[in-house]
Amino acid sequence: MKIPGTIYEAIGGQENIDKLANNLYKYIAQEPKLVEIFPDDLAESARKQRLFLTQLFGGPKLYLEERGHPMLKRRHLEFEVTHERKDLWLKCMDKSLEETGIEEPYRTAIFQRLSMTAEHMVNNLD
Ligand code: HEM
Repeated sequence: MKIPGTIYEAIGGQENIDKLANNLYKYIAQEPKLVEIFPDDLAESARKQRLFLTQLFGGPKLYLEERGHPMLKRRHLEFEVTHERKDLWLKCMDKSLEETGIEEPYRTAIFQRLSMTAEHMVNNLD
């Protein structure tokens, strides 16, 4: 599906969004302090992230259709999201943006947007 004027389309549509989410989880899997709070089935987590990033960047509202309103802060409350884990998550996303080949100005715009969301997810001050 082509949706003109969106980040979704500008960075290559569904194919690259899928790569971005899959690469994110590939790197999360390599961070012991981060992956320890995730369920065993990271493939399912990556799938939900693909749905979410698709809609966040202006593509079809796949997450809403399947999971309802994101309410991300609430959905993360059952996991200990510390500042350390937030920084690790963002490091993984940065590496994923690099590997996926997302170019400027989109790379910085996406990273800044996700940095705000990640900060908002922190629910443990250790
Ligand atoms: C700040 C560091 C973060 C940590 C430590 C973290 C951790 C987690 C964990 C443990 C899960 C559960 C996995 C699952 O249900 O399969 C999860 C789910 C999820 N996370 Fe994060 N997350 C972080 C940031 C973010 C950010 C910034 C976003 C948005 C781009 C995000 C989007 C999601 C989504 C969409 C789900 C699936 C929720 C659902 O439908 O159940 N997370 N996250």
